[in-house]
Amino acid sequence: MFAMQDIQEDMEGKLSISPLRLNFKPALPFGAIRNSVDPDDLQRFINACRSVRGKSLHKLLQGDSFELLDLFPPECVQLHFTSIPYGSIVDYTGSGLEFGSEKTYQKFLDRLELFLAASFRLCKQGGCVVLNARGLSSGSGCGPVGSKTFRGRSKIAAKRGVGRQSNFAEGFRRKDFIDLPGDIGRLGSKVGFTWRGDDIWEKTRCLPESVKDRHARVHENLILLTKGPLYKFDRSRLRQLGSKMDQSVLRLPTSTANYGHPATFSPILAEHYIYAATDEGDVVLDAFGGVGSTALAALKHGRHSITMELSHDFFGKALDRLEYFASGFQGEVKVGKPLT
Ligand SMILES: C[S@@+](CC[C@H](N)C(=O)[O-])C[C@H]1O[C@@H](n2cnc3c(N)ncnc32)[C@H](O)[C@@H]1O
Repeated sequence: MFAMQDIQEDMEGKLSISPLRLNFKPALPFGAIRNSVDPDDLQRFINACRSVRGKSLHKLLQGDSFELLDLFPPECVQLHFTSIPYGSIVDYTGSGLEFGSEKTYQKFLDRLELFLAASFRLCKQGGCVVLNARGLSSGSGCGPVGSKTFRGRSKIAAKRGVGRQSNFAEGFRRKDFIDLPGDIGRLGSKVGFTWRGDDIWEKTRCLPESVKDRHARVHENLILLTKGPLYKFDRSRLRQLGSKMDQSVLRLPTSTANYGHPATFSPILAEHYIYAATDEGDVVLDAFGGVGSTALAALKHGRHSITMELSHDFFGKALDRLEYFASGFQGEVKVGKPLT
């Protein structure tokens, strides 16, 4: 279990780019946790998001986002902000459904294209998709955590699954750079998005890489895809709200409170894009929601949110976090393929 003061620190702490407090009442108009996902209910949820004023609505779905995305009506999301799991760097659920557990990079890219096409369908005209990812190193001689070839940084890092090297060695020379951010942009463009480039998240508090033959990487990329060349993104809002980060390098620490998740980002990262790319009442989606950082940021600023997460454990923690911060939300449990 996590400490409640961590959540408080996350959402109200001095790191926040905004002095705002929770001004919007989260609402619970449709009842409590359900056992399956009904597309009609999702349509009702979207209708309610369009009509409700002064409240924010939140939907959490446990299950495979590749199935769940298809259940939503088209053109319902203003911003899809998510962090892509890849290369089995972290083995989250071991369910086999997990995105990023594909055996080759090409298979991963094939699924990524399906994911981007599904995102494109859901995205409103003039909406944005922002994907957090980073370049990978191929075949540096390390294997999965615990294997004989694993050469992780520390026992703690190994236990948390951090430091595991990518599976994606096939087709690359040893130590080749795998340009995942670039591939996301190219595939996004292929499915219809406008590829607007990327921002850099410079991680001011992170485990340094142990490499000796190049600079230790301390950044990740945020790839911006838009539906159409004219889209909602107002950089000047960030200045108005007191953030100095209105340029392409965002200097932010990794999250201090990770709730047992090895790859959380700080809600402040999500806040940044939510401010610039949505208005109150817009719907923000995170299809790889982890412990709910995007939903928390949306809730804080009166945006509606949809969160999808495969792992029961992380899904439960996301619910706990939102529940703590809000007095009501709409959660759903999808029963489908059992997870180990
Ligand atoms: C990089 S983490 C996201 C962490 C999140 N940004 C946060 O701050 O908590 C990626 C998440 O995607 C989830 N995931 C992987 N495959 C999935 C799938 N097919 N459907 C839904 N979630 C999936 C993993 O369980 C993991 O929690």
